[in-house]
Amino acid sequence: MYEAQPPRRDWVLRRFSDPRRIPFVPSPMDIVKRMLEVAEVKPNELVYDLGCGDGRIPITASRLFDAKAVGVELQRRLADKAREHVKRLELLDRVKILNDNLFNVPLREADVVALYLTREALAGLKPKLEAELKPTARVVTHDFRIPGWKPVYVERIGGHRIYLYSRKIRA
Ligand SMILES: C[S@@+](CC[C@H](N)C(=O)[O-])C[C@H]1O[C@@H](n2cnc3c(N)ncnc32)[C@H](O)[C@@H]1O
Repeated sequence: MYEAQPPRRDWVLRRFSDPRRIPFVPSPMDIVKRMLEVAEVKPNELVYDLGCGDGRIPITASRLFDAKAVGVELQRRLADKAREHVKRLELLDRVKILNDNLFNVPLREADVVALYLTREALAGLKPKLEAELKPTARVVTHDFRIPGWKPVYVERIGGHRIYLYSRKIRA
């Protein structure tokens, strides 16, 4: 019987090297804060935002939740902007911005991964999350679900949705 195969890593890497594939649409700040609350980010935990845009999620994780954070952004212009914010807010020792393709970045150390990507990108990322995340890690997504994963919590705020996934109790 035919079974759908997960997308191959090199294909996914190539496909998502094109910055037009996932545009920069910033999460509203109330959604950013709520995503981090829903994920129960604790002081000194390590939060990743894969596709961090202007850096609002890693910066908020550090400023409001006292976490350490890594933002990964493909577009140089946005990564530079995020770095400027981090520097201006004197968070250089807590927040790191990488100008890279998110599919290249190891996730083994992440406590929380925040994602506002397309459904297709989340499908491509799923095998990497499954292979690399530690058992206690939480994944929180804005508006799009991770195909085939069962969220442990869903919240609707206005027209937005937040999905929380926990590796330990994932279906
Ligand atoms: C919808 S925006 C979300 C921005 C931010 N996370 C937020 O919630 O406000 C998606 C971001 O992912 C970035 N992006 C797209 N493809 C990427 C890739 N392969 N690697 C890293 N960043 C990527 C885009 O440039 C964009 O800034």
